[in-house]
Amino acid sequence: MKDQMSNPPLRIFNQHAEDLRGKRVCLIGGAGFIGHNMALKLVACGAEVQVIDGLQVNHLVHIASSPQLEHQTMYLKFLHERLALLEEAGVALNVVDARDYLKLGTAISEFKPQVIVQLAAIAHANRSNKDPYSTFDHSLRTLENALDCARSVAEHFIYFSSSMVYGNFQSECIDEDHPLNPLGIYGALKLGGEKMVIAYQQVFGLPYTIIRPAALYGPRCVSRRVGQIFIENTFSGKPLRVEGDGLESIDFTFIEDLVDGICCAIVNPNSRNQIFNMTHGEARTIKDLADIVSDEIPGTHIEYTKRDDLRPFRGSMSVDKARELIGYAPLNAVEIGIPKYIDWYRSIGFAASKKDRDAFNASAKKMA
Ligand SMILES: NC(=O)c1ccc[n+]([C@@H]2O[C@H](COP(=O)([O-])OP(=O)(O)OC[C@H]3O[C@@H](n4cnc5c(N)ncnc54)[C@H](O)[C@@H]3O)[C@@H](O)[C@H]2O)c1
Repeated sequence: MKDQMSNPPLRIFNQHAEDLRGKRVCLIGGAGFIGHNMALKLVACGAEVQVIDGLQVNHLVHIASSPQLEHQTMYLKFLHERLALLEEAGVALNVVDARDYLKLGTAISEFKPQVIVQLAAIAHANRSNKDPYSTFDHSLRTLENALDCARSVAEHFIYFSSSMVYGNFQSECIDEDHPLNPLGIYGALKLGGEKMVIAYQQVFGLPYTIIRPAALYGPRCVSRRVGQIFIENTFSGKPLRVEGDGLESIDFTFIEDLVDGICCAIVNPNSRNQIFNMTHGEARTIKDLADIVSDEIPGTHIEYTKRDDLRPFRGSMSVDKARELIGYAPLNAVEIGIPKYIDWYRSIGFAASKKDRDAFNASAKKMA
C-alpha cells in the first residue's frame, strides 16, 4: 500500500473521515454551489448532514422562471443533479425559507446539529447592488435567524463571509488584518454579518469561524462567475469578454480546496473564534484565466469590455493563518483546477461540436 504521508489528498481525507464520523452538521443554503459540494464531502467522511434550503434564490425557482437566461435548460439539469446526488448520499433535505424563523427553528431543533454552517445569501455582488432589499432579507435576516436558532443547540457556527469585505486591496497579497472598506451592498452586508456572528459569541458564548472565500469555480455551478462564463462561451463558439484590461488579478479557488478547508475548520478546535481567508492563496489575472481556457479549448477569441466600477481591485489572499492553525492545504492552482472543470463539462456532454451541444440540450430539456 502507498505511504499515506506521500499522498496529501488521501491523508487529509482519512484524517477528516476519522474526526467527522457521526458529526451532525446542518448546512443552511446547503443546496447551493458550495453547500451541496460540502454536503457530499461531509457524508463521504461519515458525517450526518442536514441541508436546509429554500431552492428559490439562484436555484430551481429562480432559474425555472428565467426563460431569457442563457443555458437555462442546462442549469436546471445541474440543479436537479445536485438534488439527486444529495438524495443518493442520504442527506436530509428540508425545503425551508430561512427567513421564516419558526420553520427554521423547527427544522434545526429536530436535527440537533453540533455544527451549523450559514451559506444562504444572494451570493453575487452585482445582483446585490441591483436589489439591496432582497439581499438584506436573504443574507442578513437568514443569518440572524440562524444565529438565534444555533445558540441553544449548536457548539460551532460557521459563517460564509467574502473577500469583498476588504474593498480595494492595498497590497498584492493581504492577510486577515487588512482594513475592511467594502464597496457596495454585498460586501457591506457580509461585514455586518461578521459583526453579528462575533456579537453572538460575546453575548451567548456561541463559538464561531468566519470564512472569507473568493471567486470559486467547479462542477454544477450556475452563478455565472467569470471562469464559468469563459468555459461556456468558448464551448459555444462565443468570444471571451474580459472586463477592463484583463490585468487585474483574482484569487480563483477550486471548490474541492474550499470544501477540504471547511472540513479542517470543523474538526480542528483551533478554528474557534477565528477569521480565515480561504482561497488558493495566489491570485492570477483574468487574462491568465482566459489563456488557460483558450489553451484547453482552441479557437477562442478574447474581447475587452468596460469594467464595473463597483468591483474592487483585489489580488492574492494569504492563507498562512488557515495553513498554520487548521492545516488548510489548497492543491489546485488554476492550471490544475480549470482543466478539471473543463473535463467535467466534457464529461456531461457539453462539448465543442454543435451536434453534441444540441444532443446535450435535448436531453437536459427532458430532465428539467
Ligand atoms: N461562490 C463564491 O465564489 C463565493 C465567494 C465568497 C463568498 N461566498 C459566499 O458563500 C455562500 C454560498 O455561496 P454559493 O456560491 O454556494 O451561492 P449559491 O447561490 O449557489 O447558494 C446559496 C444557497 O442559499 C439558498 N438560499 C438563499 N436564500 C435562502 C433563504 N432565504 N432560505 C433558504 N435558503 C436560501 C439558495 O437557494 C442557494 O441554494 C454565500 O453566502 C456567498 O455569499 C461565495
